[in-house]
Amino acid sequence: MSDSNAVVEIRKLWTVFKNADGEQVVHRELDLRIERGEVLSLVGGSGTGKTVLLRQILGLEKPSKGTVEVLGQAPGELSAKGAANVGMLFQHGALFSAFSVLENIAFPLRELKLLPDELIRNAALVKLQMVGLEPRHANMSPADLSGGMIKRAALARALIMDPPLLLLDEPTAGLDPESSDSFCDLLRGLHREQGLTVVMVTHDLDTLFDLSTRIAVLADHKVIVSGSAREVIAYPHPFIHEYFLGGRGQRALEALHDKPAQAPPTSAGAAH
Ligand SMILES: Nc1ncnc2c1ncn2[C@@H]1O[C@H](COP(=O)(O)OP(=O)(O)OP(=O)(O)O)[C@@H](O)[C@H]1O
Ligand SMILES: [Mg+2]
Repeated sequence: MSDSNAVVEIRKLWTVFKNADGEQVVHRELDLRIERGEVLSLVGGSGTGKTVLLRQILGLEKPSKGTVEVLGQAPGELSAKGAANVGMLFQHGALFSAFSVLENIAFPLRELKLLPDELIRNAALVKLQMVGLEPRHANMSPADLSGGMIKRAALARALIMDPPLLLLDEPTAGLDPESSDSFCDLLRGLHREQGLTVVMVTHDLDTLFDLSTRIAVLADHKVIVSGSAREVIAYPHPFIHEYFLGGRGQRALEALHDKPAQAPPTSAGAAH
């Protein structure tokens, strides 16, 4: 039996894909446990299986071996009840272009076919405002929204069933710094107010340090370390060294720790 505080419990997970060249092992004996209220960020190189892991938590993909549990249950069948437990903002999560913004947000609820139209519409309007969009955006086409607004609408769609668990795949990728900051503010507020548990994949170090309560690093087919930024950075591994201690990582870390007393690294001045 799972501990009641675990929202996600992944044990000895193997993911193996068969392709033209034979077998590709993506995850090998991967263990990860996510507690209620965490904002757990997954970082790892491209192709290390971050998106696949989110899809397994959502129940869209089955592990080759091992178990994934969400709130003590296999996410396996996408039953109405299972789907309501997890909301996901997809990496390339386009909205349906033929639908209005409001219809997009309402879509998962409408698919359930349980509620009258008026109630669904009102629920979608509540979510629209929750993510900082205005009623006048409701009937617009996704094509008429900015990148940041599209992300907000997709987030509203992920939240329409009030899931306790939210999965975010690169939530700020492609946004300009200002939109990215304001999207982070929105996510931070939602996490605090709704008591959500969040699992986020991000390549963006500002987003990572801004939002995470814990960072987990995916390398060598498993979670090699998880903890605070400090703990993760102290872990000796070539990926971590390159990822966090390159120029990009140094600058993000400095912004995080705000250490004006220390001399900046000599390379920082040349970077601009
Ligand atoms: N359904 C599938 N069938 C076969 N191979 C797959 C499938 N889904 C993913 N893969 C492979 O699994 C590996 C991990 O993919 P995944 O999309 O999870 O990477 P990622 O860590 O999210 O990378 P990125 O940071 O670029 O988004 C890749 O090599 C991918 O080609
Ligand atoms: Mg991915």
